[in-house]
Amino acid sequence: MPVQIGAKLDSGFDDPLGMLQDCHRRIERFLAILCDVAERAHARALTSEEANAIRTALAYFREGGRRHTADEEESLFPRMRTLAPPGTLDPLDHLEDDHREADQLHDDVDRLYSGWLAAGPLNPTLEQSLLDKTRRLRALYAEHIQTEETTVFPAAARILDRATIAAIGSEFRGRRNAG
Ligand SMILES: [Fe+2]
Ligand SMILES: [Fe+2]
Repeated sequence: MPVQIGAKLDSGFDDPLGMLQDCHRRIERFLAILCDVAERAHARALTSEEANAIRTALAYFREGGRRHTADEEESLFPRMRTLAPPGTLDPLDHLEDDHREADQLHDDVDRLYSGWLAAGPLNPTLEQSLLDKTRRLRALYAEHIQTEETTVFPAAARILDRATIAAIGSEFRGRRNAG
């Protein structure tokens, strides 16, 4: 039996809103790695510890990060739009725009870091580009996650009934089995 000391156990498929919040904590952790290494490893090769951490963070966003977006856009948001009174869920459109911007930033950050890992320090222009993009991601996610956790998820908990929550959880499970 897994033992976890001093930390909350991850939520299960019966609590998809809890799963989304758990995922936010992972996003914040892996994003901090992408941001912090870009800030401190100026004009030098990455240490092996940094390189391993960056590889892990890039792999997370390629798979878990994209799945999180699908969980929200394909399972949660459409059901909220169906059930909420018209005009009350305007933040969802903005959140989807954020997802598109974050996808593009992640693609760029992945390409820049992959170049750094493969061929050593980036030239100053590319290094500045990586810094700009990781800083933008940090700002974007800070606001985005706050909106989801203080506005959208509480609204979902109010308007979605148990059967709908169960259906969302089973779609989350299917997405993980498929991937
Ligand atoms: Fe989101
Ligand atoms: Fe989210």
